[in-house]
Amino acid sequence: MSGIYLEPLSVSVESHLQGFHYMCSDPATVKWLSIDPTSSLEESKALMITKLATPENPDIDKLAVMLPNHNSPNEPARMIGLVGTNRYSPQGLETGYMLLSSYWGRGYGKEAFKEFLKWYWALETRKNIMVLVAKIDPANVVSEKVVKGAGARKGEVIENTFALKQNEENGERGTLGCWYIDRPEEVSEGSKIVRM
Ligand SMILES: CC(C)(COP(=O)(O)OP(=O)(O)OC[C@H]1O[C@@H](n2cnc3c(N)ncnc32)[C@H](O)[C@@H]1OP(=O)(O)O)[C@@H](O)C(=O)NCCC(=O)NCCS
Repeated sequence: MSGIYLEPLSVSVESHLQGFHYMCSDPATVKWLSIDPTSSLEESKALMITKLATPENPDIDKLAVMLPNHNSPNEPARMIGLVGTNRYSPQGLETGYMLLSSYWGRGYGKEAFKEFLKWYWALETRKNIMVLVAKIDPANVVSEKVVKGAGARKGEVIENTFALKQNEENGERGTLGCWYIDRPEEVSEGSKIVRM
């Protein structure tokens, strides 16, 4: 256990907006998401609002990945990532994750995604969801390792798609591999590192 924990994403500056802004304004972090880095807190806030559940897209769950400051336990934990569900698609409800690039390669991505799934599958309100789909650029081998680590099965490749693009008019088309994560037959009691 790394000490990270997950908590529901909230748009306030005190909780998650600043951390979200660090990620979305960092070109390395957003490269695989095919969005342009944001250039102001306001721009990040507008983007963040589109990531949360809305009346049009209500069944969305988004968790912030939090890292406590072990050197200064009185300092607040820092948001270093995001994990959750994104939107319905013809292939199923999409799932995704991102971490601030300066925290890559320490195992946080795999741990956060596994713990998100453990929490998600135990949700009373999501019992109808039998499968999630992660859509991954085949060149994004680290992301493929994250879903493989969570037991995903490889599905079809979608060519010439806008699926990950923020804005279809500006976005370039690309290729995405579908990775399916099935609801486990036996659901455990949920993740211990999610704090509600
Ligand atoms: C995908 C992402 C969340 C992974 O987070 P991470 O904390 O760096 O990943 P982890 O440290 O848990 O490593 C996952 C696996 O990749 C491997 N890995 C990590 N960095 C690597 C690198 N630079 N090159 C090759 N393998 C690497 C790890 O060894 C681990 O492999 P394992 O399954 O054999 O144990 C992070 O890279 C990210 O935010 N990327 C940008 C956003 C993104 O691509 N999101 C997914 C869109 S589909």
